[in-house]
Amino acid sequence: MTRYIISNGSAADAKPTVLKGNISVQGAKNAALPLIAAAVLTGEDVVLSNCPDIADVDNMLKIFSALGGVTERRGDKVKLSLKYLTSGEIESRLAGELRSSLFMLGSVLARTKKAKVAYPGGCDIGLRPIDIHLKALREMGVRIRDRYGYLYCDASEAHGADVTLDYPSVGATENVMLLASGIDGVTVIRNAAREPEIEDLGNFLCKTGARVTGAGTQLIKIEGCSALKGAEYEVMPDRIAAGTYMIAAAVCGGETVLRDMKPEHVFSLIGKLRESGAEVEYNGNSVRVASDGRLKAVGVVETGTYPGFPTDLQAPFSVLAAVSEGSTVIVENIFETRFKHLAELTKMGVSVKVKGRVAVFEGVKSLSAAEVQAMDLRGGAALMIAGLKASGTTVVENGHHIERGYAAPEEVLNALGASVIKV
Ligand code: EPZ
Repeated sequence: MTRYIISNGSAADAKPTVLKGNISVQGAKNAALPLIAAAVLTGEDVVLSNCPDIADVDNMLKIFSALGGVTERRGDKVKLSLKYLTSGEIESRLAGELRSSLFMLGSVLARTKKAKVAYPGGCDIGLRPIDIHLKALREMGVRIRDRYGYLYCDASEAHGADVTLDYPSVGATENVMLLASGIDGVTVIRNAAREPEIEDLGNFLCKTGARVTGAGTQLIKIEGCSALKGAEYEVMPDRIAAGTYMIAAAVCGGETVLRDMKPEHVFSLIGKLRESGAEVEYNGNSVRVASDGRLKAVGVVETGTYPGFPTDLQAPFSVLAAVSEGSTVIVENIFETRFKHLAELTKMGVSVKVKGRVAVFEGVKSLSAAEVQAMDLRGGAALMIAGLKASGTTVVENGHHIERGYAAPEEVLNALGASVIKV
């Protein structure tokens, strides 16, 4: 089991890490996963560049291979070929990654008209229901039976439809885009998710021959085609990984430049970091964060759908709230149990009270090292940031959660002057 050991000087003169230097931001996990699913739509080769080398992508590639696909990684480039889709069974239990398999549903249905997929259960951050996915697919004529923990789907009579999502679900928007792109006909998605990853998927689908307009807005129109072509595509930068390292830079103090990213994807975070007293500047594809490590509380932070404050940065930002002078209130509006990291952070001296989806922090002057358990991906990242700030040596257990979404975080942080060992 992976552990990250974060040391701050020797026990005698333990002092918090100050981050200095510049780093390149990885490709986006939450864009790469639906793009791998989209590669199922065509029998021709797809090449994804800037594809992050992380566990969730590995799992998705295993699911792609289990469908009869061939994948080959060369550095940041991944080549995918699925000439003959031999089975509509979307393997997920072996791959051990239930959630990602759901992203395959729309494209497998478009290609083979039949699909069987394990019903993805809840996970570390909530029940993760899929009712919005299923309602939309049914409106497109997909027949779905739920039997013994599996979904049996038949899309032999699938058709374009005018679909309104009850909630702008990212995954449901992507599933509808994938099915709609791979069948003849026109589909409109209203109340669509507006996350940048949706726009990335739309750009890719256009390169394969689907006609997608409005991706990234709440109204998406798709003119599908049952004979989509192969394509080469560069995965967008990971705005959540970028935001995580920006928060670490503000919390630890020093001066950090992040390259190969899109500042406009993290404007909601930039506003909060400036409010906390950090200096933040940006240009076309880089952001500079400088601070003396002494920050002021920013009042209230509410997570929301894009372009609001991203729920995926809520846990990392909670460390900034914990060490800012004054009180900070964080409201988690998207997932129902996304505060599991707070129990671990209190072991390091964080002062916080939680009531349902509201966490109230009283800023403390310092944190103390501890052995802590990562409970989920972003919560694990928060514990690493806290370890950088704490005096002494922090051990983050269950590091496999972190490896799901961050490419070699120890290398990134050590390039900025930290001392992080992965064991
Ligand atoms: C995507 O998850 C991301 N994952 C999540 O990132 C991200 O937190 C989330 O969008 C919100 O931005 C990927 O893209 C792989 P949703 P997804 O459907 O698609 C409820 C990370 O850390 N809902 O927009 O599952 C759901 O329970 C991960 O990188 C229904 O009720 O998110 C949740 O409360 C975590 N019924 C809310 O909507 C449904 O059918 C948002 O879910 C679907 C969702």
